Parts: sequence; C-alpha cells; structure tokens
Amino acid sequence: MAKFRPISRRSFLQAGSGAAAAGLLGIHTVDLPAEMPALDPANPVRFGIIGVGTQGSTLLSGSVSLPGVKCVAASDLYDGRHTLAKEIAGQDVKTTRRYDEVLEDKSIECVIVAAPDFWHKTIVVDALNAGKDVYVEKPMSHTIAEGEEMVRVSQKTGKFVQVGSQRVSSAIFVKAQELVASGAIGDLLQAELQLGRNSPDGAWEYPPPPDLSPENLDWVTWQKDVPKKPFDPLTFARWRCWHEYGTGMAGDLMVHLVSGMQFATGINAIPDSAYTVAGIERWKDGRNMPDVQSTVLRYGKIPVSVRLTLGTETPEITRIMGSLGVVEITNNSVTLMPQLGINTGTSYYSQSYPSVLRKQYNQDWHAKNDSIIASHPLADATVYRGISWDNVTPHLANFFSAVRTRKPVVEDVVFGHHAAAACHMANASYFENMLITADKRT
Ligand SMILES: NC(=O)c1ccc[n+]([C@@H]2O[C@H](COP(=O)([O-])OP(=O)(O)OC[C@H]3O[C@@H](n4cnc5c(N)ncnc54)[C@H](O)[C@@H]3O)[C@@H](O)[C@H]2O)c1
Repeated sequence: MAKFRPISRRSFLQAGSGAAAAGLLGIHTVDLPAEMPALDPANPVRFGIIGVGTQGSTLLSGSVSLPGVKCVAASDLYDGRHTLAKEIAGQDVKTTRRYDEVLEDKSIECVIVAAPDFWHKTIVVDALNAGKDVYVEKPMSHTIAEGEEMVRVSQKTGKFVQVGSQRVSSAIFVKAQELVASGAIGDLLQAELQLGRNSPDGAWEYPPPPDLSPENLDWVTWQKDVPKKPFDPLTFARWRCWHEYGTGMAGDLMVHLVSGMQFATGINAIPDSAYTVAGIERWKDGRNMPDVQSTVLRYGKIPVSVRLTLGTETPEITRIMGSLGVVEITNNSVTLMPQLGINTGTSYYSQSYPSVLRKQYNQDWHAKNDSIIASHPLADATVYRGISWDNVTPHLANFFSAVRTRKPVVEDVVFGHHAAAACHMANASYFENMLITADKRT
C-alpha cells in the first residue's frame, strides 16, 4: 500500500506551478503537453489485429497513424470487418477469419486484441505462446482465474501485455500521479469514482451491421464455449448486456476508473473486499447486467466508492482525497484543491460559551494562532489541462515503442489483472448479494 509523506502547503507551492507559487488568489490554469515516444519509420513495428469492431477499428486507425508502425494482417469473424480493416490500413493488409493465421506469421512481432471480453484470455494466451507481445483491450480478463493464467503465461514466455485502459498514458493522469506522490494532498485516505450515461448507445443498445448474416459471420465460433443459441445479430452487437460474453458496467466502465485510480494513487493490488448494490432499472431489454450500480472497494484502510449508472448522464470524475486536499480528475483536466486542515478562526463551538468565557477564549486563540494563520498562504486551486484521457494514440505508442525497446509498458499484465479483478469482485457481489472478500473472490 502506498504511503505518502505529507509536505507543507508552503513547500508544495514553492515547488509547484508558477502561478500557484506566486501565491495569487483563485484558480490557475496550466496546460499539459502530450508526450509520445518516437518510433523509427525505417524499421517499422509489424503488427496484426484480432477483432476489428468498434474499438478495434479505433485502435487500428490510431496505430497506422503512428510513424514506424505497420499493420500486416487483420482477423475478424465477420467479413464486413475485413473490408473495414482494408479501408483503414490499406488494401495490402491480409485478412482472415482465423486468428491462428495471424499468430503463425513469423513476420508479425505483436498483436492488438479487441475481441469481446469473453475471448480475451484465449486469444492472449495463444498470442503469447506464439511469441507475440500483446495489446489487449480492457477488461483484461473475463474472470479472476483467467487473469491469473494470463499473468503466468506472460511471465513464462517473457512476452508482455499492455492493457488498453488508455487513461494511464494521458498527461492528465501522469500529473495526477505526480501530485499525489509529491504529498500535495497529504496522506491518501479515500477515493470516489463516478460516471453516468443516459442514451441507448450509452446503454449498449447498438444497431447490428445491416448485412450481418450466418454467411458473412462465423456465428458458431463467435459464441466460443457459451451455450449456443441461434444466429442473433443483437447478441453480436450488444454482448456487453450479458455476463456470458461481457462484464457489464464494471468491466466496460468501472475498469477505466479503477485503472486510473490505481495509476494515480500507486495502489496496485486486488481489493480486500467489494460490495455492490445494483439493479436493472432503466433498460429492461432482456439484459442480465445491472444498469444502476454502487460499489465500495476496500484496499487496506482505503475505501474507494464507485458510482455507475446508465440511467442518468453525469460526467466521469475521479476524486482522490487526502488530509491536505483533493486531486480531482475529469476528461481533460486535473485540479489540485489544497486544504490547510487547520482552524482559520475561533471555534464554532465557542458560541455556546457565556460571554466572559467566550471573550477570554477569543483573546487567547488569536494570541496563539494569528501568526500561524498569517504564515499560511491561502488555499487556491490549480487546474492542469491536457488532451482528453480518452485518446488511445499515446497508449498505443507506448506499446509499440516497448516492443522495440523492451522497456516496461505503462499498463502491464499484473496491473490489468488487478483492475479487472476489482470489477469481477464487484459483479460477483451483485450476483451473489454479499460482500466479496479476497478469499471468496471468483
Ligand atoms: N479502451 C476503450 O475505451 C474501449 C472502448 C470500447 C471497447 N473496448 C473493449 O474492446 C473490446 C471490443 O469491444 P468492441 O466494442 O469493439 O466490440 P465489437 O463487438 O464492436 O467488436 C468485436 C469484434 O471482434 C470480433 N471477434 C470476436 N471473436 C473473434 C475471434 N475469435 N477472432 C477474431 N475476431 C473475433 C467480432 O466479430 C467483432 O467484429 C472489448 O473488450 C471492449 O471492452 C475498449
């Protein structure tokens, strides 16, 4: 568990931003640069992609926009996405329904895996065993046991896994991490994470591709080892709604928040416990994953509360709280709100004293505290702004650069396993209606 040394407000300000250090009042804005590792266009990293759907197509576009990266092959079970892959990465990209053909290609150094959650472990383990480094979408696993296996195989093969919660590659979260580690909010005490949506798209009621049919989709293979059902375009497009294929709001949304929290606080562990209160209240369309959910995770002494909903639109906010203030993260900003943590005036309680006692108390208090208060700068906020944490390109650049440099990726298999495990524990608590502790995790 990370333990951070509190520093005084004064010394923090002296080390801090120019505006804040000048001791000006109000909110001070500082722009954050977006940094990306450079790759060598003369020696491109050759990659394949498995799953070229909604997110796969975003990752493919982001990857081929990087100098020094080349897509060689793309696999998908739906032929429409072979067309899409060629539209994005060029007509010379080899396409196939069978992902083994991508893994068998010795010229391919690494793969991106953007299939639905229930496919991640199988494809990632096969890819690692085939000698490829892997970028896999969040949540890394579909169960905790799967995550443990992925960690083992990555360590055994020496091939690495970068997990796709792109926030951790953003300047926003790097700044939040720096602030927390510097002691700017004192001792870490608590965190709260929240996000809300309110639309059919936000609730995953996606329109299936109009031409989808058993002829252009290998529907039997798509279902993997889940009990087979007849061809169903809605399941193909909306798999997140069912725990057999997806991981609900926990694995789709909370995993991003937990990953960001882990990164900013230095917590890198499976929670000791998780408790969820949730239900299906807004989208009664046959789904079995909740659409309104509150979860409390406990990491040692630190409670992390997570509020998720598909019923009310609210911004995504991460609040990290300590004895000297708050670090608050939104889409493209991180705000440090320091707190003095001292009384800046006579106690409120003194109004209950008779007047003689109150007068004496006031005199004593001012004699003792006025010089201390005068030596404290006023608590003003500093806002750092950068490009949205939702930009995947820096996260991809970190991965492709690591393929060449062999330096550790920013979001490795252990980190991704911990973040996913928190989500699986949260879901288990909902389905089993009980507190899930580390020894009862699934
Ligand atoms: N990082 C993010 O912000 C973000 C955003 C969206 C989705 N995701 C994640 O990306 C993953 C994919 O989500 P999506 O919305 O793109 O899903 P999707 O259904 O749109 O696309 C998945 C694709 O994978 C293909 N596929 C399934 N099994 C396959 C197999 N065995 N071999 C080859 N192709 C296979 C499907 O045919 C489909 O085209 C999920 O894990 C999701 O959680 C991450």
